[in-house]
Amino acid sequence: MCGIVGCILKEKNDVAPILFDCISKLEYRGYDSVGIATYDNKINVRKAKGDIESVNEKLRFKNMKGIFGIAHTRWASTGKPTDENAHPHLDATKSVAIVHNGTLENYTELKNELINEGCKFTSTTDSEVIANLIKKYMSNGLNLEDALRKTTEQLKGSYAIVAFSKDEPDKIVATRQDSPLIVAYGKTGYFVASDTPAVLEYARDVIRPREGEIAILSNEGIDIHDKNGKSIKWKSTYIDWTPEMARKEGFDHYMIKEITEQSDAVKNTLTQKGKIQKVIEKIGKVKRICLVACGTSYHASITGKYLIESLAGIACDVVIASEAKYTAKTWDEDTLVIFISQSGETYDSRMALKEARKTSKTLAIVNVAGSAMCEEAEFVIQTQAGPEIGVAATKTYVAQLTAIYLFAGLISKNNALVDELYNVPAYIDEAVKQKDYIKELSKRYDFADDAFYLGRGFSYPVALEGALKLKEITYIHAEGYAAGELKHGPLALIDEKVPVIVIIPPGEDYPKTMTNLEEVKARGAIVLSVGAKGDENITKNSNVFIEMNPKIREIIAPLVYIVPLQLLSYYVTLDKGFDPDRPRNLAKVITV
Ligand code: F6R
Repeated sequence: MCGIVGCILKEKNDVAPILFDCISKLEYRGYDSVGIATYDNKINVRKAKGDIESVNEKLRFKNMKGIFGIAHTRWASTGKPTDENAHPHLDATKSVAIVHNGTLENYTELKNELINEGCKFTSTTDSEVIANLIKKYMSNGLNLEDALRKTTEQLKGSYAIVAFSKDEPDKIVATRQDSPLIVAYGKTGYFVASDTPAVLEYARDVIRPREGEIAILSNEGIDIHDKNGKSIKWKSTYIDWTPEMARKEGFDHYMIKEITEQSDAVKNTLTQKGKIQKVIEKIGKVKRICLVACGTSYHASITGKYLIESLAGIACDVVIASEAKYTAKTWDEDTLVIFISQSGETYDSRMALKEARKTSKTLAIVNVAGSAMCEEAEFVIQTQAGPEIGVAATKTYVAQLTAIYLFAGLISKNNALVDELYNVPAYIDEAVKQKDYIKELSKRYDFADDAFYLGRGFSYPVALEGALKLKEITYIHAEGYAAGELKHGPLALIDEKVPVIVIIPPGEDYPKTMTNLEEVKARGAIVLSVGAKGDENITKNSNVFIEMNPKIREIIAPLVYIVPLQLLSYYVTLDKGFDPDRPRNLAKVITV
C-alpha cells in the first residue's frame, strides 16, 4: 500500500520539487518512510524513516539535482520501517534505482540466490531483490526494459515497479501485477504513479497499463509495450477531478473537509441516475444478488442488502471480500455479484471479483475512475465523491450509499424513495452545522476505553460504521451491535463507565430500539442518542441527544445519521492529540 511516483520532464529542469509535491499527495498510502532518487549524471538518493514533512526538513528533497527521478512513501509490509528499508532501493553496484509497491512471496529464495552469486544487500525488504535482478540481467546484456521484463518473470506476488538505470539514463520504466499503476502526461512532462491524486496538479490524461505491460517514459513521450516488447496503441482517459479537490483548501484536516463535502458527494452521485437505470436494463433479470466489500464499503453493502430485499424482494447476501470463497461456490449465471469499493483496488475485493466473473454477472460501484475494478467488472457505476485523501472513508461512504439507494429504488421502481434522495444533501448540510456542538460534547468521550454503538434495521450498519470510525482514528475500542442482539451477551459489558451511542430515527423500529435504550440506561450506561429533534422520550432517557431533522425517515437515515458519528470521532481524535488523516498502522488503499 505504498505510494509511488516517477517523473521525466520535457525541459531540462530539476524534477525533485515536482516529485516531492506528487509524493506528498500520496501520504495517505503510507507514512512510515519516504525517499526520492534522481538522475544527474549519477544516481542521487535521499531517504529516511518518518513522515514526509519531517524527513523533508532533514533531507531537503527539493534541493536535489536531476531532470528525472522516482519517489516513494512507504507502508511497511516486509521489513520494519527504518532508514535502510526506505525506498528507493539501489542494486549493490548502485546503477539501478527502483521503487516498489506490493509484496513478493518468493523474495527469500531470490535473495539467497543473489547472495550466493556474491550480491550484497543493505535492507531487509523484499523490494531490494528487484533492483539487483534488473542489474544482473542488464550485466548479462539486456536493455533496461528487457531486464525489467525478465525480472518480473522471476517474481511471485503483487507489484507495481518503477525503475531507472544510470546505464540507460534517458528513461523510466514501469510495470504492474495486482497493484495499481497509472501513467499520465501533461504540459511539463510524463508521469507514472500508484494513483491519480499524485499527479493531478501536473497531468490529467491518464493511461492504465495492463498487467504485464511495460510503460517506457522518456522526455519525448510514453510508449507502452506488451509482454513481447511490441508497442501497443494506448488510449488515455481525461480525469475530471481538479487539483483543488485533492488539496486541504483551508481546512485543518482532509477528514473534516471531506465530511463537509458530503452533501456534494450525494448531489453529484444522484446525477448518475440515468446511467444506473441503463445498467439495470442491461443487467436484465437476476434471481439473486450478492454484495461483496471490505470495511466501510462492507457497511454500505449491508444497507444495500436491506434495501434490495425490502424494496425489490430479491434475495440478497452480503459478504466480506476476504471471506467470500464459500459463498462464491454458490454464485451462478442467475446471480448478480455487486462489488462496492472506494478505491477499486482493494486486493480481497478484486480476487472475489475475479472469481465472480467466471460464473456470474458482475457490477462494481467504485469511486476512482479507471481503477482496476472498473476494468475488471462487467458493469460499473461510478460514485461522484471526488478524491478522498483522509484515510477514514467519509464522503465516499455516503456516495456509495447514494448509488446503492438509486440502484435499489430504480430496480424496484420505487419513485417515491428515489425522489426523497434529493432532500438528503440539505439534511446532511444541516447535520454538519452541528459540528460546534459535537466538538464541545466530544470532550466527554476522551476518557472512554470502550464504546458501544446500537442500531436496528437500517440503523444497524450505521452503528457498525460509527464504531469503525471511532476505533480507527481515536484508538478507542468500539463495537457496533444490532440493538436486539445486546441482551444475548454484550449487555454484560455495560456499566457506568461505558458510553453507548444509540441510533434511533423515527420509524417502524423505533419502539424496539427505545426498549434497548432503556435497558442500557437501566444498567448505568452513558447514553448518547441520535434521533429526531424534539423527541421527549429520547431526551428523557439519554445523557446527550444529537437532534436530527424529524423529516428524515428510518429508511433514509443511514445517509444522514452517520454525519454526527463521523464528527464525534473526528473531534475525539483531536482531543486525544492524534492525527485523524493518518491513523496508525493504516493506509488508504489495501492492495495486499
Ligand atoms: C475505513 C476504510 C476502510 C475501507 C476498506 C475498503 O474508514 O476506509 O475500511 O473502507 O479498506 O476499501 P475500498 O472501499 O477502497 O475497497
